[in-house]
Amino acid sequence: MSRITAEARVLRLEDVAPDDGLRAVSEGRGDVPARGVERAAANDARRVLGLANISLAFGGVTALRDVSLDVAEGEIRAIIGPNGAGKSSLLNVVSGLYQPDRGQIRFGEHAFRRVPTAKLAAHGVARTFQNLALFKGLSVFDNVLMGLAHRVSAGFLRQIVGSPHARRIDAENRAAVEEVVSFLHLSDVRERIAGTLPYGLQKRVELARALVARPRLLLLDEPFAGVTLSEKQELSEHVRNARDRFGTTILLIEHDIGLVMGLSDRVAVLDYGRKIADGTPDQVRADQTVIDAYLGVAHEDETELAT
Ligand SMILES: Nc1ncnc2c1ncn2[C@@H]1O[C@H](COP(=O)(O)OP(=O)(O)O)[C@@H](O)[C@H]1O
Ligand SMILES: [Mg+2]
Repeated sequence: MSRITAEARVLRLEDVAPDDGLRAVSEGRGDVPARGVERAAANDARRVLGLANISLAFGGVTALRDVSLDVAEGEIRAIIGPNGAGKSSLLNVVSGLYQPDRGQIRFGEHAFRRVPTAKLAAHGVARTFQNLALFKGLSVFDNVLMGLAHRVSAGFLRQIVGSPHARRIDAENRAAVEEVVSFLHLSDVRERIAGTLPYGLQKRVELARALVARPRLLLLDEPFAGVTLSEKQELSEHVRNARDRFGTTILLIEHDIGLVMGLSDRVAVLDYGRKIADGTPDQVRADQTVIDAYLGVAHEDETELAT
């Protein structure tokens, strides 16, 4: 069965799946964000994302084996693991680039066999990419503005261009951009061409673009890869501030364990496509299976289990 042509087989399960007791996640963006694992575990109904028994293979290579995972509203949730563990595959399943062979993905009360990528924004999901995906020739401001492009269809825009309604939307969008640009301390470089900025700043622009639409769930693909140590610390502060300020739920996959441990409320560990641990940073750090996976000789790209 070809994964590429499987678009037509995408099923919306919400009408057929047995009710598992999951209630709709509250729309209340103004709520105080849930912090920490206690609230996350205590209130299942505030689950923003649920993965149930996800399996995925590429030919003979198993990328994911029966992985289940939940992400609670307002938490910073990390997935770590050695190279080849299945982290990117999992994020691609969440964002709809891959269709799992088995399992189900839930955003709030909506369940999918394959996530409709084009509707991610409508479900309140935004993402950043491991390799920057900025418009390098555009200004910082315009790059961030692109994060709102999905709000108005091009045809609609053409029809109403110049109308009071169009001007109001434009003003609202620009105000949203101004707010996030200032929040992420990008005001000084707002007119600079994005491609000319240092890499760490470009990463921050990408974060701003993902945040400008105020997603409920933000997916970060190795946000700290390739930046300097001080930029890492800065970026990680910005991620935490975004959660605290906007209540954004954050799911990040990351290689840099040390940073993740300090930033995340809960950490899941993948190894050879299996979830081998899931808990608070302290629980995961003390888990012998995790220590073995990271210190074992099986993986080419070892990372020390930093404290
Ligand atoms: N598009 C693909 N085609 C074939 N194999 C893939 C593809 N994506 C991932 N894999 C394989 O799945 C496994 C998990 O890869 P990946 O999800 O990229 O791991 P990680 O992000 O943790 O390094 C690896 O063995 C990888 O080679
Ligand atoms: Mg990867």
